[in-house]
Amino acid sequence: MALYDWKDDYSVGVSRFDNHHKRLFNIANDLHEMMKLGRGADVIEPLLRELIDYTHYHLAEEEKVMEAIGYSNIASHKQAHRIFTDQLNAAMAEVDAGKTIFVVIKIAKTVIDWLINHIYGIDKKYTPEMNSAGIR
Ligand SMILES: [Fe+2]
Repeated sequence: MALYDWKDDYSVGVSRFDNHHKRLFNIANDLHEMMKLGRGADVIEPLLRELIDYTHYHLAEEEKVMEAIGYSNIASHKQAHRIFTDQLNAAMAEVDAGKTIFVVIKIAKTVIDWLINHIYGIDKKYTPEMNSAGIR
């Protein structure tokens, strides 16, 4: 069983964003698996970058769609994204400073914990407006 399991209840009612979220779970699981197998920085670091890069990509894509439909809560939603990306950037600065092994697991867990919280508390609020704009 994977460390981080996707559940149908995590759905935000927009398939492209559910797929993004699932991909983040998969990368975090791969990362955890490679750490467990004792793989070196040559394997761990690219996966970590992929997790971070894909997180940035996902948040930017969500914001584009929220902008396109004139989503009513866009300002607070973008603010929540911004606070999180600042945290991620700070964590990556630690990795760049050579503390990889100490922060990798923390980062993977932070991303998934944040994502689950964010899905329930913030993402799910856009479902009705996105769906009525034809985005599902
Ligand atoms: Fe979001």
